[in-house]
Amino acid sequence: MSSDLQLNLFDSSQTASIQTDSIPANAKVPIPAGTYQSIEQIAEHCNRCHRCELGNSRTHAVIGRGNSEALILIVGEAPGQNEDETGLPFVGRSGKLLDKILESVGLNVETDVFIANVIKCRPPNNRPPTAKEIEACKPYLLEQIRILDPQIILLTGATALKGLINDKRAISKIRGQWIEWENRLCMPIFHPSYLLRNPSREPESPKWLMWQDMQAVKAKWDELKGSV
Ligand code: URA
Repeated sequence: MSSDLQLNLFDSSQTASIQTDSIPANAKVPIPAGTYQSIEQIAEHCNRCHRCELGNSRTHAVIGRGNSEALILIVGEAPGQNEDETGLPFVGRSGKLLDKILESVGLNVETDVFIANVIKCRPPNNRPPTAKEIEACKPYLLEQIRILDPQIILLTGATALKGLINDKRAISKIRGQWIEWENRLCMPIFHPSYLLRNPSREPESPKWLMWQDMQAVKAKWDELKGSV
């Protein structure tokens, strides 16, 4: 599916009368904006989805956790083993670190954010998702964004950055910068698993940079909170 068509998925004037039961089986069947009314409906479909081959090996599709009213959406890459087993995103080691990072800047993981992934099913051996898998799954993420309506989207790592907004620049070059996309503020940040591999807290280290970025996110969140 071209990125043009993906962006059109936000245009609910295009909502056709579609047979939603046919969606999970065929990646060629588009999922127009407005197909789903709730995150639960998306979850129900994703757990029956075979738009790519990952549907054959998943235990659970992983849709999201957190507050669906939150101003911040955090987008990760893909479920790993813990996520596949529990059906919840970021519950392994990188998830624990992510929770700690959020708490350290004063964001509550249960009330202030919603956490989701670019793709909803675990790739075998935790390999990165393929372009085809991302494309097949993207309508679900776009529908999540339409329903959740976050003001801030944090893109953790290159897969989230490229998968959602099709930006192919290196995370290390553009992390911490606000990018306007579909009337929302997106910020690319390091993926927590990268921070686990780079534990130094020295100035200019990835962890130190993440701390700067998350303080900027918290400041923007405070500003937006004050105006809603
Ligand atoms: N767990 C997730 O849910 N997503 C990631 O990107 C990594 C771990």
